[in-house]
Amino acid sequence: MRDGADGPAVAAAMDLLVRYGEALQAERLVETRNVAGTMTQPSPAKAQLVREGGWAKAYAVINLDCDDDIEIPRMRVPTCQLQHGFDGDADGLTAYPKQSIELQGDAESYFSERGVNILATCTPYQVGNLPVRGEHVAWMESSAVVYANSVLGARTNCEGGASTGAAGLTGRIPYWGLHLDENRGATHVVEAAVPVESFRDWGMFGYFVGERVLEARPAVTGALGQPDLADLKHFGAATATSGGVELFHMPGVTPEAPDLDSAFRGGSVPAPIRYGERERAEMYELLNSNGTSTDVDFVLLGCPHASLDQVARIAELLEGRRLADGTELWVMTPRALRTMADRNGYTRAIIRAGGHVLTDSCPAMSRAAPPGTRVFATDSAKQAHYLPAILGVEAWFGTLDECIDAALTGRWRGGLER
Ligand code: F3S
Repeated sequence: MRDGADGPAVAAAMDLLVRYGEALQAERLVETRNVAGTMTQPSPAKAQLVREGGWAKAYAVINLDCDDDIEIPRMRVPTCQLQHGFDGDADGLTAYPKQSIELQGDAESYFSERGVNILATCTPYQVGNLPVRGEHVAWMESSAVVYANSVLGARTNCEGGASTGAAGLTGRIPYWGLHLDENRGATHVVEAAVPVESFRDWGMFGYFVGERVLEARPAVTGALGQPDLADLKHFGAATATSGGVELFHMPGVTPEAPDLDSAFRGGSVPAPIRYGERERAEMYELLNSNGTSTDVDFVLLGCPHASLDQVARIAELLEGRRLADGTELWVMTPRALRTMADRNGYTRAIIRAGGHVLTDSCPAMSRAAPPGTRVFATDSAKQAHYLPAILGVEAWFGTLDECIDAALTGRWRGGLER
């Protein structure tokens, strides 16, 4: 491939992967049939390249590190687009530029003709892209990577726009890091001494784990309730927010850890890091450290993108009610689930209450919120962490019920009850 047998774009892609693999001291490449990257995300640099030479030029420069004038063929293996900017649904709701929406629409046409499935979500695993245990994949997006490795037992490092761009055209990725058995064992034990049961608990516990182990591979034990998809999604995203966790083990729940010893692959098990009442309260304080005013003007739900069950629950809580004047509510969900939410009437209930169900992106990714937002509330540890820094707003973090209450009253009345 590098010598040009499959054309110049594939040659550039393979050249990039070989250089990348050599820098990582990878012994070889590994085949993959599942790539999740970002080709369509608009940016000023991309807009400039598209003006100069179309999408082929933008892809060559940004995704293949190649300045030549080359055609981009169809992807060699199944490839999907992760989250990108807001689409037309958000037009008029925020100051997000119309040109970016148009540029992205143009990109979708170009890349879907080349075999990129426009899933447009940070949670491809919620909309049909479910790699199986042991499968080598090449994914971006920290919350998706930690879910793929930990919950699904697939194998990926946290890739980037260039390596996934090259992997889609070649079906290869360097064989290093979490692709190798020896790099998948746990390194730490974090033990919950307080119950971790609710969606909020999982976010706070994840935030604690990431903060303590940083980029290592924790096994989590203790007073853990039975998590569902949304809990694991929130937990993993939080570990990858306060830290850089790409793989965790939860004995009895995640596929590579039927028990604690298996998580350590026969190695010695270290003394646990304790998560007790004090640490739980510290995480709550940390996630709410930006909140001062209790006048909430924006509520954000669906980070990572909400499952259909989560959208249904929000619709149920809003049925027949009305948001407070001057308070906005956005629910982020994948496009495919938005279609189902429309058919089930969930979207209608949320819109009737005055809220919006949006897809493709989120305020942190698109750096955009309703105009004039000063104080926002969310049930997501990840969004509570990022949005104050990105948009300079105050943040409240709490339960879904507290967030809905804030949307209906315009006031934050949350708190840590135990
Ligand atoms: Fe997804 Fe945005 Fe959260 S891309 S994980 S909703 S920060």
